[in-house]
Amino acid sequence: KVLVTAGPTVEAIDPVRYITNHSSGKMGYEIAKAARIRGAEVTLISGPVSVKPFTGIDVLKVKSAVEMHDAVVQNAAEYDIIIKAAAVADYRPKNIAENKIKKGGAMSVELAENPDILKELGKNKRNAVLAGFCMETENLLKNAEKKLKAKNLDFIVANNLTAEGAGFKTDTNIVTILDKDGNKSVYDIMGKDEVAHIILDKCVKIMNKD
Ligand code: CTP
Repeated sequence: KVLVTAGPTVEAIDPVRYITNHSSGKMGYEIAKAARIRGAEVTLISGPVSVKPFTGIDVLKVKSAVEMHDAVVQNAAEYDIIIKAAAVADYRPKNIAENKIKKGGAMSVELAENPDILKELGKNKRNAVLAGFCMETENLLKNAEKKLKAKNLDFIVANNLTAEGAGFKTDTNIVTILDKDGNKSVYDIMGKDEVAHIILDKCVKIMNKD
């Protein structure tokens, strides 16, 4: 049983506006598809995206990071593999205005920190394989290593947003996988579908080792 999160989260400011990021959901949806093709029971917890899920996948749609947090935490215990490909917003507006905010000079929005879903899963880690992503524009591997340890993951998939052919909207990605035993695998540019299978191969290897 495989749980995948994908897409961005959106954080409401008022009934009209929100804060979000450029995540397309493509990477997470490809992982869910690859796992389904391999015969897994797959649940995809997804923020708002336009990509369509592969057939036979249970999809739970959420909007905000808090909603994604609640959906993941409620369901996590059932899964053998959890892969967090979602680009979760780190902050949300502290208060959501009930009515549309009217313009009038400079303004600011106070933000509150969102729960770190992956860190919480890592804190309560069971036998399930736990994997995360790391998105950076600088110091990729150093930051990825930090997140791998801080979130108590089995492995982390690092991708550099500034590299051509990697990141949010593309069908390709350029990744390096770091695991908790200190192994590092560097991959060339490839389709997100191929990256998905590499990630699942890594999960299977870890399951067979434990
Ligand atoms: N993540 C999460 N909950 C959050 C933030 C991130 O579960 N509130 C997960 C993402 O799904 C991803 C991993 O943590 O698998 C790393 O996300 P990333 O955005 O690279 O890093 P952050 O931990 O948010 O740190 P920073 O934004 O400071 O780089």
